[in-house]
Amino acid sequence: MSHTRQLSPFEREIQRSILTRPLTFKEYMALALYHPQWGYYTAQKAPGRNADFFTSVSVGSCFGELLAHYMHGIWQEAGSPETFTALEQGGHIGMLAADVISSIYANFPAFSKAIRFLAVERSALAMTDPRLTEYSCWSLAHDLQDIPQESVDLFFANELIDAFPVHRVIWQGPEHGWAELHVSLQEDVLTFAEGQLSSSILADRLTDIDVSNFEPGYITEINLEIAPWLASLSPRLKHNAIMLVFDYGMPDSTYYLPSRREGTLQSYQNHQRSGNLLANPGEQDLTAHVDFTHLQVEAELAGLNSRRLEEQSRFLTRLAHNPLKAMEDRLQGTAPDKKSLSWIRQFQQLTSMGPNFKVMELLRNVGSA
Ligand SMILES: C[S@@+](CC[C@H](N)C(=O)[O-])C[C@H]1O[C@@H](n2cnc3c(N)ncnc32)[C@H](O)[C@@H]1O
Repeated sequence: MSHTRQLSPFEREIQRSILTRPLTFKEYMALALYHPQWGYYTAQKAPGRNADFFTSVSVGSCFGELLAHYMHGIWQEAGSPETFTALEQGGHIGMLAADVISSIYANFPAFSKAIRFLAVERSALAMTDPRLTEYSCWSLAHDLQDIPQESVDLFFANELIDAFPVHRVIWQGPEHGWAELHVSLQEDVLTFAEGQLSSSILADRLTDIDVSNFEPGYITEINLEIAPWLASLSPRLKHNAIMLVFDYGMPDSTYYLPSRREGTLQSYQNHQRSGNLLANPGEQDLTAHVDFTHLQVEAELAGLNSRRLEEQSRFLTRLAHNPLKAMEDRLQGTAPDKKSLSWIRQFQQLTSMGPNFKVMELLRNVGSA
């Protein structure tokens, strides 16, 4: 029986470009997520807390409120300066920005006078959360290059790095070494084909991986975007600025476990793992875990010293101390109201997302760059 599935215009465009030459998976992922017309993040149909992808921000406003408490603490530590510039990258429609800003305005009046909020997001849906229309303290740039040098006091991003396009590679055994998995075409169907490594930078990175216990056919992915991203970001941070990165991932010792034979790349559609990385480009999310050892190494090279790497649950639990105390004082032994119950439920959800959900806090040290 011949299959007669209709190709979408996006699939046709991808197939046409593959006729010229196979794409690296990184090129494919960049198209699938960020194509200006059809990319998954560009054309997301149902943004909001019910969006197709699910993050700490989707849980509710609790994450943003805790972040507002954190930012207030950093502002105070810095001596409560008259202006304090926060930069969020990859905030999609700006839900977290709206949660953070509204919490700052509700809870910290003095800080609300100082806060300037910059968003860097490449999606055309950037900062379209309707709650943001109430505030004038924010502005949007589509690229880090548009942010002035040494202007940022605090940078943060949630699940940005896992959305950076990655190379997909396969270990062929000691004799043949690593090959790259390219996206090719077989009878009108996108498929993976082994080919040469596409760059010497990729080849160099792969020499860092201990392959001694790998079986031939071991697949993993390599994120080469982190170094150029940090090189662009770091000079935009002030001396002693803080950088906060939330994402899922692990150190290299557990990332490249011999048992993780297929790597960490995942595709999600309608909140379900789809199992086929190349299916329905533009309609499914593609994401790879973060190698936090690599992030730390590259950060140090860019003049950013790591202050902590810990599970998100521990970090948020510390931040929740004051809001929970305030809630307790307010309730004075009476049963929690609906709002408090909802907040507690969100907090429980945020702190039970599992050990892979991590936060890395870094400090820009101008002298070391
Ligand atoms: C997984 S989503 C996370 C969205 C949001 N931070 C959250 O937690 O719900 C990744 C976001 O990063 C954005 N993004 C990816 N690379 C980017 C870049 N280089 N500059 C700005 N935004 C980027 C994407 O457009 C997308 O909105």
